[in-house]
Amino acid sequence: MQFFIDTANLNEIREAYDLGVLDGVTTNPSLMAKEGIKGHANVLAHYKAICDIVDDNVSAEVIATDYEGMIKEGKELAKIDDKIVVKIPMIKDGVKAIKYFSNEGIRTNCTLIFSAGQALLAAKAGASYVSPFIGRLDDISHDGLSLIEQIVQIYDNYGFDTEVLAASVRHSMHLIQCAEIGADVVTCPFKVITGLLNHPLTDKGLEQFLADHKKANS
Ligand code: E4P
Repeated sequence: MQFFIDTANLNEIREAYDLGVLDGVTTNPSLMAKEGIKGHANVLAHYKAICDIVDDNVSAEVIATDYEGMIKEGKELAKIDDKIVVKIPMIKDGVKAIKYFSNEGIRTNCTLIFSAGQALLAAKAGASYVSPFIGRLDDISHDGLSLIEQIVQIYDNYGFDTEVLAASVRHSMHLIQCAEIGADVVTCPFKVITGLLNHPLTDKGLEQFLADHKKANS
């Protein structure tokens, strides 16, 4: 299972990378805006800065919503670095753009997936990743994890190469449940990954080991 970090904050990306378990980064226009990144040149430079930190898999989202616009923007994003994965929304022109990029050998991440049918369409078009937003589904009383399960099943049935990238992950239990049901990738805030570290018995056990060591060596 791969771990991506869902942020455009360079310090956080560096910190996550330093932990040694990071496989990629996902961004979206809201996350870029949160970091105050604006203006075409600055946006491209910021994606390059992210690529310079991590080994691979930097999802950069197009803003255009028409086919020609998405192709132009996606090509420009893909030129920044081989690590870029062009993120494209699940809309009709987006499906066409995914097919185009798939034929060109440019990786894509189809975003804003909220149903199994959308995931099936994206896979048929040749998306490298689909991003079902599980937290946003949970927020409106729909079961986000069931959607992941459904997509994993469908892709397994037909041997699609498209990877299931669970997005909008809110907490560490989401991550563990995604691992149990076979999501290929999870993207989440760094605190969701560090949340996996915690167990009170680990803290208690370590405290005891150190106390015993100190007693024996004093
Ligand atoms: C990542 O690709 C998505 O854009 C992101 O996970 C959405 O998360 P949110 O629902 O917390 O905004």
